[in-house]
Amino acid sequence: MLKIEDLNVYYGGIHALRGVSIDVPQGEIVTIIGSNGAGKSSLLNAISGVIKYSGLIEYEGQPLAKQAHKVVKSGVCQVPEGRIIFANLTVHENLKMGAYLRNDAKGISADFERVYDLFPRLKEREKQLAGTLSGGEQQMLAMGRGLMSSPELILLDEPSLGLAPLLINTIFEIILEIKAMGKTILLVEQNAFKALSIADRAYVLEQGKITSSGSARELLADTTIQEAYLGKKH
Ligand SMILES: Nc1ncnc2c1ncn2[C@@H]1O[C@H](COP(=O)(O)OP(=O)(O)O)[C@@H](O)[C@H]1O
Ligand SMILES: [Mg+2]
Repeated sequence: MLKIEDLNVYYGGIHALRGVSIDVPQGEIVTIIGSNGAGKSSLLNAISGVIKYSGLIEYEGQPLAKQAHKVVKSGVCQVPEGRIIFANLTVHENLKMGAYLRNDAKGISADFERVYDLFPRLKEREKQLAGTLSGGEQQMLAMGRGLMSSPELILLDEPSLGLAPLLINTIFEIILEIKAMGKTILLVEQNAFKALSIADRAYVLEQGKITSSGSARELLADTTIQEAYLGKKH
């Protein structure tokens, strides 16, 4: 569904992504694991059209647009790191913002229902100001808002960051439910264990380069990966 070849991103003199190539097949969860500063957000920002890059990003067999609103129109949405939401708008208004490029009123109200089914906590807090939500609820809201654009491919940037362990489990279960809705997911995470536990396929990103790839199961069983990312010693 998404094919990236030889992607390079520079910030002035910093070469943040160095010839990255990845494949995201339809219907799968593909995860990119890597530590802080590896280039994970840069990869998602390049796909979303919010930063400049060189290389090929192909979506459903066509070059993907390089402007953010066109990328969203093509069916790709990013749920950014740090769960950026509109603090002074209600939960419902935030969700509505996710659908701003759509004009299919019926589809939008069906998606409101789906999002509220997926996140009952958001339904309970429909009229609450988003700024008063807990960190986990804000993450749910950021994901819900992404779903309101009716995407086929969802880019998730470190959804577990800063959340308590129980809430992390909830978020990862919801990611599996989103997959079951037929969506394709590209998940970037520092929480390698959790990400590999739910993903189909995985890549390891280190200092802007892919250093390892395979099925998520293979990477979970790989002793080098275990030592570097899963805190296991052999
Ligand atoms: N806007 C920016 N300007 C300059 N350097 C940046 C910018 N964004 C990211 N970088 C640098 O690019 C590298 C990759 O960053 P990032 O993609 O945010 O990594 P990750 O998401 O894996 O933590 C880091 O060295 C970071 O300091
Ligand atoms: Mg990041």
